[in-house]
Amino acid sequence: MNPFSLQPDIVEEAGSDWLIPAHPQPLATAPGGLRLALMARRSLLTPWTAESFGARDFAYRLLRRQVCVFNDPASIKTVFVTQAECFERKGAMMRRALSPLLGDGLFISDGETWRQRRPLVADIAHKNQVPFYAPMMTRAVAEVLAGWRDGAEISLLPAMAELTAQIIARSIFGTRLGHEALSGIVRGFGRYQARIDSFNLPFFLGAAEGWPVGRGGALRPAIAEVHGVVEHVITEHVAGRGEHGSMLDLLMRRMQRSPELGLDMQALRNEAATIFMAGHETTAAALTWALYLLAKAPWAEARLHAELDQVLGRREPSAEDLPGLPYARAIIEETLRLYPPVPLLPRQARAATQVGEIAVEKNALVLVVPWILHRSPDLWEQPMHFRPERFLTGSAPIPYSYIPFSAGPRICAGLNFGMTEAVLGLAMVARAFRLRLIPGFRAEPVCRLSLRPRHAILARLEARA
Ligand code: HEM
Repeated sequence: MNPFSLQPDIVEEAGSDWLIPAHPQPLATAPGGLRLALMARRSLLTPWTAESFGARDFAYRLLRRQVCVFNDPASIKTVFVTQAECFERKGAMMRRALSPLLGDGLFISDGETWRQRRPLVADIAHKNQVPFYAPMMTRAVAEVLAGWRDGAEISLLPAMAELTAQIIARSIFGTRLGHEALSGIVRGFGRYQARIDSFNLPFFLGAAEGWPVGRGGALRPAIAEVHGVVEHVITEHVAGRGEHGSMLDLLMRRMQRSPELGLDMQALRNEAATIFMAGHETTAAALTWALYLLAKAPWAEARLHAELDQVLGRREPSAEDLPGLPYARAIIEETLRLYPPVPLLPRQARAATQVGEIAVEKNALVLVVPWILHRSPDLWEQPMHFRPERFLTGSAPIPYSYIPFSAGPRICAGLNFGMTEAVLGLAMVARAFRLRLIPGFRAEPVCRLSLRPRHAILARLEARA
């Protein structure tokens, strides 16, 4: 690779029964400050050397900011569990990127606000609620699949985003949310994400909070579109015209039972928008990468088809079928290892402290990076290979070596919802269709807020008889 290039080569190799799926070639030597900054701005997956994939911690200075990368599972436990309070604050860049849209929503809040709201949000997406939402998931997937035709070409990420947006919107707002409102909210989120910066230079220059994101008023229409839809649905619920059992309905009832929290319309809107964002993007990315992997690994596809044919035959799956679909689940787990939808977990140290060998400064940027952790040769056999079987053996990964949903008190509030949705979605798509990529197509994973393909992954649908 050209030592000045900002774009490492994309590696992808396959044999008749193995696959090393697409990833940027790790660098031979660490990039200098400016190149590092420019590479990180293009994609946060690229500026890592082969050495940084080892299960070790390291720290460096980027302009005036201390950056600590923890890649030793013992240190990750310290950051997320033992010293969680010191590291509960999200990185300034992430807060800056999301706060215009989500306000003080759970994903980016901390301190007292987070502590008060976490139980409310965690309860409504809790695993006990999942059986209630599962039939809605399968109905939404069936409706989307009914529009797919043999021989048609789809772009994977937008197709999966439509599917997961349908699911999360119906779960939060109820099934009566009109087509127009749904496309408004999806369009608004899409426009918002396209405009925000994931890399905020002033933070590294020493400003603890970075600078506000956004290019002038460009974000305003996108924010207005999302807030408009959410507020309208809340008003309907307040007027008694909401849908019983929707997440919004549960959230409102819980808020009413805790008047001491003083939560208002804005808090409700922020939490609803947060669940929508957190629950839609991530699962769409997981399904996109899972389908890409299957299309590249015909041996895994055949094994999945055999499982689906045996367990389901020609009928749709339900939540009760999940224990009988271990290979479908293993494909999702392996996808979340290789392509974690949130590939980088940034924190801002509240105080100076010691983690492992590293003296962390107050306000340091602390990074736990599932992208490198999940591909560490010290923690995984054949770390770059797609091998769903590794999740079938019954031996769990080394603690804190596999964290696609993060860990500790801030672990994903929708973990069970997301896993159920992803496994059911994969099972339903793969039961009905084979997806064929353009020969020679090489995906390029990039990290903006979530891990996504830089260029559309186009696939031709082949109906399974
Ligand atoms: C495969 C799907 C999913 C993945 C990989 C995923 C991953 C994550 C990760 C890594 C975090 C923590 C981020 C951090 O620590 O910086 C997180 C937080 C969160 N997720 Fe998920 N997520 C998924 C699906 C969902 C779904 C379906 C929902 C809602 C129904 C959801 C709701 C949330 C919320 C509310 C938070 C914030 C929790 C807090 O800060 O206390 N997620 N998710």
